[in-house]
Amino acid sequence: MKQIVAIYPGSFDPVTNGHLDLIQRGSKLFDELIVAIARNPEKDAALFTLDERKEMLLAMTADCDNVTIDSFEGLLVSYCVHKNANVVLRGIRAVSDYEFELQMALMNRKIDPRVETIFMLPAEKYSYLSSRIVREIAHLGGPLSGFVPDMVEQKLREKVQAKATKKGPEWPN
Ligand code: PNS
Repeated sequence: MKQIVAIYPGSFDPVTNGHLDLIQRGSKLFDELIVAIARNPEKDAALFTLDERKEMLLAMTADCDNVTIDSFEGLLVSYCVHKNANVVLRGIRAVSDYEFELQMALMNRKIDPRVETIFMLPAEKYSYLSSRIVREIAHLGGPLSGFVPDMVEQKLREKVQAKATKKGPEWPN
């Protein structure tokens, strides 16, 4: 029988409980799931380095036998071909995600029709969760419990602390 190798691409800056929910679902559906962190030279505003993002994902998926963590640069479909993957997995949280995801899936299909995009829905409780909003809450000192694993929360707090120390006081007199 044909093995289904799926790629779950993203920035994962940082990985959230929503991402982990999708990884769990994907790992049950596909023979192999490769979580691929996109190295985007234009997005150098990333909070976590590629190695830090990889470390967090590795720790959080250690118990999933068919899940591996990797990174890629350049076109996603080229990476899929390189990995012999036939599926791209993407999560859709709300209708607002759909437009961008549709454009990306159709463009990827146009570039290489061998790669199929499969959309999955995370649990409803994660439908408003994103890495961007988690970073913002962390910067503002808000609660993160339930949104990211404890390890990620700790790393976020450390990052914010390190940035604040580097920057000095917010309101110098
Ligand atoms: O977590 P994100 O930021 O929503 O992930 C977006 C990502 C990395 C999956 C997307 O930007 C991507 O696939 N980038 C690779 C470059 C590429 O293939 N671009 C053309 C897409 S149509």
